[in-house]
Amino acid sequence: MPAGIEERVMIIEGDITTLRVDAIVNAANPSLLGGGGVDGAIHRAAGPELREECRGLGGCRTGEAKITRGYRLPARFVIHTVGPVWKGGTCDEDELLASCYRNSLALAELSGLQSIAFPAISTGAYGFPRERAARIAVRTVIGFLTYHPAIKKVILVCHGNDACSLYRDIFGQEISGTTEYEMAQAIFSHLSMIEASHGIRIKNRETIARTIAPALKSDTQALSAGISLNNWVAVAGGSGEVTVPQSVIRTILDSLKSG
Ligand code: APR
Repeated sequence: MPAGIEERVMIIEGDITTLRVDAIVNAANPSLLGGGGVDGAIHRAAGPELREECRGLGGCRTGEAKITRGYRLPARFVIHTVGPVWKGGTCDEDELLASCYRNSLALAELSGLQSIAFPAISTGAYGFPRERAARIAVRTVIGFLTYHPAIKKVILVCHGNDACSLYRDIFGQEISGTTEYEMAQAIFSHLSMIEASHGIRIKNRETIARTIAPALKSDTQALSAGISLNNWVAVAGGSGEVTVPQSVIRTILDSLKSG
């Protein structure tokens, strides 16, 4: 049974520099050469080699993410991202903050990592309202994990107990009724079974899940979609990497809607 979203997201209070995960995320500034807050804590704990590696990265733009080794940290890697400075909400701050989470997760997945911890990006020196930032963080993490099974664990690290209860409340609100998450995991399960039984790799797994999962209302419908995909693979044959045509995906979607 695929892991539920509650098993893949942890919300804790503590010091991110102590976590033994594949990567911790640093709330950096565009220079990537260190600063105060969590940036300062991470550089202090990692040692001077971190700054040396950062020096070679050429900085980082707001919303983007870059990766370095973790050096003396228990974490193997540090993913540096630059959050938006809060300017009242009229300068695309929400989307830029969401990009920090999304790009850090994408970079972790691209780097073959499975566990990643985030601080509350932009909510310190950059002044982003905490509740607004927490909701963006939770929504972006759930949205990414729904279609990226490779990331097994995301830890949201709060500094201070009141921040923790805020994150937990928001997480509870956001996961109530996430059938899309369950349906996407069901589709990924069916795709994995199809790949194993036919000895293939389906290249456009994420596209198939993103197209079909929102239209699914039950495991029975997910099974029906899985059987249709399996039938196409069986008829089409093929070996190695196989791409399911958009027309086939569309036909399955239309049959779900008319079903
Ligand atoms: N572990 C986890 N969270 C921490 C830690 C820590 N050791 N230290 C601080 N935090 C929390 C803060 O309480 C805050 O909630 O990290 C969150 C982000 O705060 P900042 O570190 O101030 O980061 P940010 O608001 O994104 O501002 C970034 O500050 O440190 C400079 O160089 C950095 O210029 C950049 C700016």
